[in-house]
Amino acid sequence: MHLPVVNLRPSIEATRPEWQARLDAMFARGQFILGEGLAEFERDYAASLQAKFAVGVANGTDAIALCLRAARVTGETITTALSAPFTGIAITSAGAKIRFADVDPETLSVDPDDLGNRITKRTAALVPVHLYGQPCRIDRIAKLGPVVIQDACQAHGARFQGQPLTKFSPYVAYSFYPTKNLGALGDGGAVVTDRADVARRLRLLRDGGRKGGQVSYETGINSRLDEMQCCYLSAFLPRLAEWNAQRRHLAKLYDESLTGCPGIQLLKRHACSVSHLYVVRAKQRGRLREYLAQHGIGTGIHYPVPLHLHPAFASAGQKRGSLPHAEKACREIVSLPLWPYLPDSGAFEVAERIRAFYAGGGG
Ligand SMILES: Cc1ncc(COP(=O)(O)O)c(C=O)c1O
Repeated sequence: MHLPVVNLRPSIEATRPEWQARLDAMFARGQFILGEGLAEFERDYAASLQAKFAVGVANGTDAIALCLRAARVTGETITTALSAPFTGIAITSAGAKIRFADVDPETLSVDPDDLGNRITKRTAALVPVHLYGQPCRIDRIAKLGPVVIQDACQAHGARFQGQPLTKFSPYVAYSFYPTKNLGALGDGGAVVTDRADVARRLRLLRDGGRKGGQVSYETGINSRLDEMQCCYLSAFLPRLAEWNAQRRHLAKLYDESLTGCPGIQLLKRHACSVSHLYVVRAKQRGRLREYLAQHGIGTGIHYPVPLHLHPAFASAGQKRGSLPHAEKACREIVSLPLWPYLPDSGAFEVAERIRAFYAGGGG
């Protein structure tokens, strides 16, 4: 069996009649930016998350950056050292001064104690990430003081202890990059909020500071979620809960099949995770990945370098050794194949191959 790390084709095929009908309607309308399709998707997406407003933007990076601009944050902003580089890029592109906190070694989400200890008088905002689809300790982080922008780019549909994420802060940013739990077939993103003033300001900022006419009232940016992507997103959205349930089921199968496997350490997962990625720590990671590749099994690393060690974020002044848990995790983590239509037999095969690798003394 050939098992890539992710396969979008089954989700696209399963929804073909829905997105095809929407594309036909879009071509008939002839409006491709800021049209009816966006308004409908924004309404439905907000409702699906039990939030009041969703504002579509061009990608998840802009969603985070626009939240920082909407909150008028330009000062020190602390995020986790373990995330996609775009979390950091969003912070620097908004003009804020980036700093990093370490992760909890059990979940790899930002450690709320470490984050709290790094807050100073200069700290203006926090950008916690709901990494791999698992909400971080947003209940504790929301009480730390600074403005909280949630990077939920990997966590569509996730709630924290049964509560919508918008209950913890008025800025929740999502990415619709194609491989996400809710992905477009191109770039896309959204900010979800319960606050009418925040939604209003984001709509202004995403459209060049305009209010529907040709006058710019503020130096916003051009970051709109286009009508074509809304056709796909509106077709996929009714399946999100079912696809998340399937991801959770597969993550549980992996957990069960890999428990006690020598060389493998599982991450702690909570019931509220939407299992965007299935990640374990692995001994001899490089050789394990090669062995799996030889058997047709794809893997990924999310992420190989902690953000404080990226040259782009050297301004944080945090050297090697300063965030030991994130640094160690980056040397050990590996993401295994996971997508909603992956058959159970696929997950079992991956787990068996991993066991065979370590039983053979590590390949
Ligand atoms: C955690 C996280 N933050 C931010 C982003 C940026 O999203 P986008 O690629 O849509 O700009 C991504 C996705 O790449 C992500 O996974």
